[in-house]
Amino acid sequence: MGWNSWNSFANIVNSQIVQQQAKTLASNGMKEAGYEYVVIDEGWWLGERDAAGNIVVNPKQWPAIQPGQKDGDMANIAAYIHSLGLKAGIYTDAGRDGCSMYPDSGPKYLNTGSEGHYDQDFLQFSKWGFDYVKVDWCGGAKEKYSGAVQYAQIAHAIQNAEKVTGRKLFFSICEWGSQNPWFWGPGVGEIESTIWRTGGDIIPPVVESLHDTEHDKRVITSKNVLDSFDAGLHPEAQHTGYYNDLDMMVMGMRGMTDALDRTHMGLWAISSAPLMVGSDLTRLSPVTVSLLTNKEALAIHNDPYGLQPIKVDEPTPGIQIWAKPMAIDGRRAVAILNRTDASTQVNVNWDKLGLKGVPKSLRDVWNRRDLDTNATVSVPAHDLALMIVDGEDKTPAEYRANQNNIIGIQARRGPTFARLQYANTSGHVVVVPVKSTSGLFTALALPPTVGSETSTVGLILPRGTADLLFDRQPVAIRELDVYSWQ
Ligand code: GLA
Repeated sequence: MGWNSWNSFANIVNSQIVQQQAKTLASNGMKEAGYEYVVIDEGWWLGERDAAGNIVVNPKQWPAIQPGQKDGDMANIAAYIHSLGLKAGIYTDAGRDGCSMYPDSGPKYLNTGSEGHYDQDFLQFSKWGFDYVKVDWCGGAKEKYSGAVQYAQIAHAIQNAEKVTGRKLFFSICEWGSQNPWFWGPGVGEIESTIWRTGGDIIPPVVESLHDTEHDKRVITSKNVLDSFDAGLHPEAQHTGYYNDLDMMVMGMRGMTDALDRTHMGLWAISSAPLMVGSDLTRLSPVTVSLLTNKEALAIHNDPYGLQPIKVDEPTPGIQIWAKPMAIDGRRAVAILNRTDASTQVNVNWDKLGLKGVPKSLRDVWNRRDLDTNATVSVPAHDLALMIVDGEDKTPAEYRANQNNIIGIQARRGPTFARLQYANTSGHVVVVPVKSTSGLFTALALPPTVGSETSTVGLILPRGTADLLFDRQPVAIRELDVYSWQ
């Protein structure tokens, strides 16, 4: 959760803008709600290196902020962000060239990527004090590289940097879904936690201070938001530590209405997608801020299983019911998405949520009130209702593990929710590749457990999953409980 400079500032990003945004994030309620990363996207350097290959930045764009600092040192802005109790993020490309600020205006700058300098650059980012790095793919795509190979090398460069500085450098992969990163993103280079973009840019940047015909005509529609959501659904790849990235948010930006803001926030929250807000935070309305900081929506987003929702019903075309299994037994987050131009009334069919009978409670998240469990929910055109439902799970099918393998699973319908019970007494997160009969299925990042205790992670199994082979000591796989929802 945090802020990213690209959507609203594109290549005009500089120290002053970042300071102002960070200050706003720290004081408008977002920081308290959990937004913590302040990420500087493309435009922070123009491809210049010194004789030793070190990145050189424009001293006017990144001047000293405190006495004793040097102009042109990226450590200045990282320290400023840290002084507000926030974390700092930076950006590069996996190839030789970056995107050259595509699709914004301005001259083309070559050599803004990290190819040939992975170890040097990621160590430099970490030494400057950055806690997060977004790695784009324009250069990689141009050179026809394999994303799985390059991003694994970058993961290693990141791990090497972390060893030197002792600072965590969060890895954000941005190759727009071009090489199906949901297949190789989980656990790439043995990294314990990562996000990967699943589609192209949600919008071309809308920079309010740039008045030219190109920028003036840019306006956001519901299609931008819905397309990013639709492209981002790869629920089998997403579980504790590994997340599909639906792109930076455009909450409150030009063209967004309160209904669209609700839709956007609801879809990103129920997807446990990164909430990296790309808006100019100083221009957000109180309604937009209250959506971004809605505690119950954020509880859905931060659910420890971190799963994506499953579409369980579409009673009429364009009226969709999405349900996300949560870590608490019998709890679901439910979004009723109205993609149509007309308002609608919906009675949710609880049976589709895998609950026994009628749920115990139904909570309307936006309005923070309890509803009757047989309530009819009204959803205006291009809007979204968000709810938390508590009930009792239908009895799952239980499969005991044999030597870390789970055999003979019946997941005829897909996607299917499952809980995996395991023990990991190693004291640290273990990355476990998981094979199914169809090849490598995913990798899991299993947090440590204590003593004889076990823990669970949530999974969404692809249709037809029959056997799962987990092959990594010292983790002990105990049991898989498979829930049938329909
Ligand atoms: C690509 C990325 C965007 C942004 C721009 C910067 O288009 O997908 O998120 O980083 O590059 O040029």
